[in-house]
Amino acid sequence: MRVTIEASSAEAAAPDLPALSALLTDAVESGASIGFVPPLAAGEADAYWRTVVAALREGARVLLVARDAAGALVGSAQLELATRPNARHRVEVTKVMVHTKARRQGVGRALMRAAEEHARRLGRTTLVLDTRCGDHAERLYADGGWTLAGVIPKYARSANGRLDPSAFYYKLLEGDPHDSR
Ligand SMILES: CC(C)(COP(=O)(O)OP(=O)(O)OC[C@H]1O[C@@H](n2cnc3c(N)ncnc32)[C@H](O)[C@@H]1OP(=O)(O)O)[C@@H](O)C(=O)NCCC(=O)NCCS
Repeated sequence: MRVTIEASSAEAAAPDLPALSALLTDAVESGASIGFVPPLAAGEADAYWRTVVAALREGARVLLVARDAAGALVGSAQLELATRPNARHRVEVTKVMVHTKARRQGVGRALMRAAEEHARRLGRTTLVLDTRCGDHAERLYADGGWTLAGVIPKYARSANGRLDPSAFYYKLLEGDPHDSR
């Protein structure tokens, strides 16, 4: 699928809120381990996206949105920018989601590439993320050059009530002049 990926400002995200809520609901209802357990309460997705908009305003987040050729929002991902003085080279890639109708067409890969490009542009050279063990996302990350740091058992509750393990990945980009490795 041909997609365009852009970083959204707080203002630009406002008209996308219904589509973003629909995207999150679709992901949660399809069983994704993405911070929520189905069924989502009324307004829960919307309330979540409002916290994202607030983080965009504070400059602590980058929201990437993927659109198809018709302009429909088909996926998103976020960069959470570490703000502590000793961590301003670090970013966490979170909430990588592609609508079930648009999956397996390269949108996830395109979002990950864009996430990396944005991190690099911001001078963020240590990238981290986590995902439920065994999910398709693991393949996406491993193929994208991410390294498995380890697995934490009983990390997040799944829709079936079970506490499932999560896999933690990292990717180091070139470019930090103070890098002592
Ligand atoms: C993970 C996710 C983002 C992948 O998005 P996508 O657009 O379908 O991914 P792509 O089409 O770019 O696929 C990239 C690779 O991931 C793997 N993959 C993705 N979906 C897969 C599936 N259903 N079965 C097997 N492999 C799969 C494959 O290796 C695939 O490459 P290939 O198509 O060349 O074989 C999507 O499945 C999703 O939104 N899942 C729910 C949310 C989630 O779990 N996010 C990750 C945790 S934050």
